[in-house]
Amino acid sequence: MSELAWWQRGVIYQIYPRSFQDSNGDGIGDLAGMSSRLPYLAELGVDAVWVSPIYPSPMADFGYDVADYCNIDPMFGTLADFKQFADRAHGLGMKVLLDFVPNHSSDRHPWFEESRSSRDNPKRDWYLWRDPAPGGGPPNNWQSRMGGSAWEWDERTGQYYYHAFLREQPDLNWRNPQVRRAMDDVLRFWLDHGVDGFRVDVLWLLIKDAQFRDNPPNPAYEPGQPDHHRQLHTYTEDQPEVHDIVRSMRATLAEYGQRVLIGEIYLPVPQLIRYYGANGDGADMPFNFQLLNATWHAGEIARMIRDYDTALPEHAWPNWVLGNHDNPRVASRVGLAQARVAAVLLLTLRGTPTLYYGDEIGMTDGVIPPDQVQDPAEIRQPGIGQGRDPERTPMQWDTSLPNAGFTTGRSWLPVASETSVHIQNGDPSSMLSLYRRLLKLRRNNAALVQGAIEHVAAYGDVLTYERHHRGQRLFIALNMGAADAEVESREGVVLLSTFAGRDGQPLRQGANRLAAGEALIASV
Ligand code: NOJ
Repeated sequence: MSELAWWQRGVIYQIYPRSFQDSNGDGIGDLAGMSSRLPYLAELGVDAVWVSPIYPSPMADFGYDVADYCNIDPMFGTLADFKQFADRAHGLGMKVLLDFVPNHSSDRHPWFEESRSSRDNPKRDWYLWRDPAPGGGPPNNWQSRMGGSAWEWDERTGQYYYHAFLREQPDLNWRNPQVRRAMDDVLRFWLDHGVDGFRVDVLWLLIKDAQFRDNPPNPAYEPGQPDHHRQLHTYTEDQPEVHDIVRSMRATLAEYGQRVLIGEIYLPVPQLIRYYGANGDGADMPFNFQLLNATWHAGEIARMIRDYDTALPEHAWPNWVLGNHDNPRVASRVGLAQARVAAVLLLTLRGTPTLYYGDEIGMTDGVIPPDQVQDPAEIRQPGIGQGRDPERTPMQWDTSLPNAGFTTGRSWLPVASETSVHIQNGDPSSMLSLYRRLLKLRRNNAALVQGAIEHVAAYGDVLTYERHHRGQRLFIALNMGAADAEVESREGVVLLSTFAGRDGQPLRQGANRLAAGEALIASV
């Protein structure tokens, strides 16, 4: 498998730092806590950890509002703690990816403080400042993704600034070459600190229409949806000039050897794949989020897999994501039994999988009492299902009450459920054991890592496909329904089933029984 890059062979694990492990009792996770849990991740069998933002921040959007791109927030530790964390991860054979948040800074970043200080400040043009519309009011109709107008009036200088998210997150002006240079320096700062790559926040939003034209109304808008769905984002996202920026980020990383560039991009596949660039000069992996809101039906998933595989350009490496800090957890979306099937799916599809912390123990969305809501997305637009606290609850390590070993203090969010790493550790039928078995099998099977994917098909509730590489052929069958089903197969041997007892059993030529919620991988 040596011709592949590490990020093609490997499995990525996302840590949401506030919620992984607290070491100092303040109820919020930190770097020392994360470091102490690295052996757990090595044993789980993942190859890289992506850490959501840990930079100094007023935490209006929990770190996605960065006040200093080249330091660590004291809440999480120090640069020395980060170095220790990265060294320890590397020592255990794992890569370290950081979250790069270039679209917007915090309104408390010195760049923005300068920019807003006067109209002729040299950094004025580092952000998007506009005069009011001719009749007064915001310059155009652009909406914030956190609700309301995306334009904030600045009394002192008599202009509006643009923010795609919170007013505390002003958008940088990526048409300004100085901004591009400053951000390039940020990448280099972390690359020089040994970081193995970046997940780039909202990569497809970096450039906005140069003429600031109004977005057209969205004919498919349904009442109850968030405000920004009222419009098509014709002029605020996926602008052609963004690809030049992606290319320059890729070029910087290339100077440092094998480093990975992952783009957070929520776009339909035809637009998404353009972010790969031409001949590998774009993002290594524009995140493929299709599983996050897929209808959990074999036919639907089969179509999605086939279409994605067909759409990918020759040089493009696929990837799949099952969960992240912005979307409901898989165990809550499809139920615990099907979350096991989903684990097999994620780890047998062609391409790099990204796991979200806690999904390996089947953590479900937490129930957040109204007086404990933290997420600004929920606070600004309550009741429309935007809140992301449920999927950000503390990692459940053990049975200690009330915080499951996450903190000795008062946790910033309540623990979601009773299960834990400790409970599942020695149980061969647990979700954790399933993930460990899957990760081990994947690591040792070239067909799973780099084999082609073929014969993707759905028969009723059963999804089947094959992976093959140099004479090795694997058959994968997933029963996505709630009843037993039959599946046609060649003769073979079950390498792994979600029902632990079936491993090693023969698979008959012809019809084989798949229990409700069973998924298996067989050598055929
Ligand atoms: C995407 C991040 O994943 C999300 O958590 C954040 O609120 C927005 N970008 C703004 O940075």
